[in-house]
Amino acid sequence: MAYAAFRSIGAYVPKKILTNEDLAKMVDTSDEWITKRTGIKERHIAAENEYTSDMGAKAAELAIQRSGVAKEDIDLVVCATISPDYFCMPSTATIISTKLGLPNVQAFDISAACTGFVYILSIAKAFIESGMKKNVLIIGAEKLSAITDYEDRGTCILFGDGAGAAVISATDNKDEAIIDIHTGADGEFADLLMTPNGGSGSAHDSLDQEANSCFMQMKGNETFKVAVRTLTKDVVDILETNNIKSEDIKHFVPHQANYRIIKAVGDALKLKEEQVVLTVAKYGNTSGASIPMAINDVYEAGNLKAGELMLLDAFGGGLTWGSALVPFSPKK
Ligand code: COA
Repeated sequence: MAYAAFRSIGAYVPKKILTNEDLAKMVDTSDEWITKRTGIKERHIAAENEYTSDMGAKAAELAIQRSGVAKEDIDLVVCATISPDYFCMPSTATIISTKLGLPNVQAFDISAACTGFVYILSIAKAFIESGMKKNVLIIGAEKLSAITDYEDRGTCILFGDGAGAAVISATDNKDEAIIDIHTGADGEFADLLMTPNGGSGSAHDSLDQEANSCFMQMKGNETFKVAVRTLTKDVVDILETNNIKSEDIKHFVPHQANYRIIKAVGDALKLKEEQVVLTVAKYGNTSGASIPMAINDVYEAGNLKAGELMLLDAFGGGLTWGSALVPFSPKK
């Protein structure tokens, strides 16, 4: 049987920085409020002519280079995004494939909001274990600034842009394999976090029928409570199912939405500070890109070594959630 190994990571962060002080000039907020409630200090914003696919392709290029897998051996490209270059079609994955020089490879997008990276990891694992594909390029890429209402202080303080990518390859060595992935969804909570306009349902279901935009809308406080509850249950379940103790986790890489959410989950697992990867202060919430961007930070700091176990945990619009137990397994 083929197993799926997490071979490499790459990321791209756009140059422009939007600080809390900058936002305080745009809406009624303050650095103190944002820092205290979210832990976010700044976020990066893509240039006007810099698309989700541009960021995704840059992250992917790096991940492929670091994987030791030849570009022509990539046989599937999957992109998780809620801010595609074009809504509906073509998919951002196909545009990224062409930018990378992989024009004939199966490519598609998925929509699972901030859980996107865990979802595409599960897709890569399934394709590889079934024997259908050997080297899968997965990308979380977001230009959330394009769907953020910078007059809404409840959301504009949270989100940023960026991309992260990984190469997942077939291996017959079980020690290298992704151990387990749990995923779930519940549309009962769809209205907590949504872009109500622009889709086929918007004429009837729109929360804000006057608005004619793709801006995100969020019930922040309710989302916060469900996030803490769901994320905590998720990680406890996956550790118990696989008989792994929290002290065996080298890097807990949660979706970077809010420091207080991460702290609550980390405390529930009794994790030490050095086990918890935190990038929320400098990137804010980059949705599907947040987990691979965070893994890349650990990698580039020289702190991600072969065989080290990562626990990924995400939660997002849908609602969707997911967790994964992933050893870092670069090609030997
Ligand atoms: N600056 C200053 N005040 C703000 C503000 C801002 N940016 N945003 C909201 N407020 C105000 C509210 O208007 C409210 O004022 P009131 O008491 O006079 O009515 C007060 O702060 C409390 O609002 P509330 O929404 O209850 O704050 P909160 O503590 O829940 O924090 C979030 C708001 C958005 C930071 C928080 O709910 C959150 O992070 N939620 C989860 C978001 C998330 O993770 N989403 C993505 C999931 S992947």
